[in-house]
Amino acid sequence: LINIVIMAAGQGKRMRSDLPKVLHPIAGRSLLARVLATARSLNPKKLVVIYGHGGDQVKAALDAPDLAWAIQSPQLGTGHAVMQGVPFLDDAVPTMVLNGDVPLTRASTLKALLAAAGNDKLALLTVALDNPSGYGRIVRSPKGIEKIVEHKDASAEQLKIKEIYSGILVAPTAKLKTWLAALSNTNEQNEYYLTDIVAQAVAANVPVVAAHPTDSWETDGVNSKVQLAQLERAYQQNLAKELMEAGVMLADPARLDIRGDLQCGKDVAIDVNVVFEGSVTLADGVSIGANCVIKNASIGAGTRIEPFCHLEEATVGAQARIGPYARLRPGTQMGDNTHVGNFVEMKNTHFGDGSKANHLAYVGDARIGANVNIGAGTITCNYDGVNKAMTTIDDDAFIGSDSQLVAPVHVGKGATLGAGTTLTKDAPAGKLTISRSKQQTIDSWKRPAKINKEKA
Ligand code: UD1
Ligand code: CA
Repeated sequence: LINIVIMAAGQGKRMRSDLPKVLHPIAGRSLLARVLATARSLNPKKLVVIYGHGGDQVKAALDAPDLAWAIQSPQLGTGHAVMQGVPFLDDAVPTMVLNGDVPLTRASTLKALLAAAGNDKLALLTVALDNPSGYGRIVRSPKGIEKIVEHKDASAEQLKIKEIYSGILVAPTAKLKTWLAALSNTNEQNEYYLTDIVAQAVAANVPVVAAHPTDSWETDGVNSKVQLAQLERAYQQNLAKELMEAGVMLADPARLDIRGDLQCGKDVAIDVNVVFEGSVTLADGVSIGANCVIKNASIGAGTRIEPFCHLEEATVGAQARIGPYARLRPGTQMGDNTHVGNFVEMKNTHFGDGSKANHLAYVGDARIGANVNIGAGTITCNYDGVNKAMTTIDDDAFIGSDSQLVAPVHVGKGATLGAGTTLTKDAPAGKLTISRSKQQTIDSWKRPAKINKEKA
């Protein structure tokens, strides 16, 4: 068991935004929400967020019963930030310090850090960087880690050190409290540096150890929109790599965005520029065409989603064919072997097995049976300006092109609607229902001739 303190009081001026830095998203989820999720996966006894003046927006966005919020105002450095959390920390368990703007640290990396710390050591998450500029350097002697020196306070010799402090550590809590109380701000930035506790630990003969992340992006922080975009790409590349390793075929791993959780079966193929949001499941053999956006959806085995489709809160059965240019809105449930073609919009509709709507239709608030054919230009008139009503179409019905079904209305099993029908009453099973005036031809009709105005 542990305490976790998340430092999130920094202003994030370089983001140049009214939105607090830690509320900016990576893959659709805010930086701080990601840090919180990782922290919670470690089952902390206490979870404390240090927030800054003006950070009420952060609290409003992410407050939860398991969180303690400690305000830090003014902001006098990272040591001062952790001091604000001290009243919440349980001395019986170690304390982990995380950064609200370092969103992608793996739980396994933090577990390794905890294992290194045990109950009585100070453990630092460190990483060797080719360009360590700006970071606190890990100063080692033959006996081990000696201290951390901040970039601005470092000597020319110390600036050459490539091993840097990531901003993440685990410390024995009672000792941490005494070290924090003894911090001073006599340094280049006049800040209370959390990193000064390292020299104190060494002086008190507390062992100081280091652990390292698997990938260096795990400890990358976000200070600007450029860094936000770079980290987003690192995150997406890693997801793409995991998918390919699991057997998914990606036309281009650099042109795929997953903002949520994507589960794929065997032999799934995904073309370029596809965006997945929320929770999406693709069963075996699904193929997704280029330029689709798919949110909170599940697609059955062998189904093909053709290019330029938009699916949201929809389920599609097996062996279906959707698109190109189809839009399935919330509450759409497509059966097996269904076909939906170009410029078809569906909403809150159950579309039975083997049914088809191949071109240009709006089907909303409808229950459609099996093997129904919806002709081009068909519209369910589900809205009277005030209320929504249902359209029901039974198995094997055939809806002629350019029909309007004014709901509530029911089409019986095997019924046929003639093209251009405006259906305002139920259509009986097995019969042709049609609502257009009879076609006639006027034999004596002549086209009007042009009148010569000058003569008149
Ligand atoms: C800090 C470390 C440095 C390390 C670097 C890693 C110190 C003194 N230095 O640098 O060794 O290499 O992180 O990125 O700790 N924060 C507050 N209140 C404050 C100041 C900061 O909550 O008064 C928060 C920030 O929002 C941020 C985190 O603490 O989440 C780190 O602050 P930042 O200023 O980015 O780190 P540095 O001081 O540059
Ligand atoms: Ca600083």
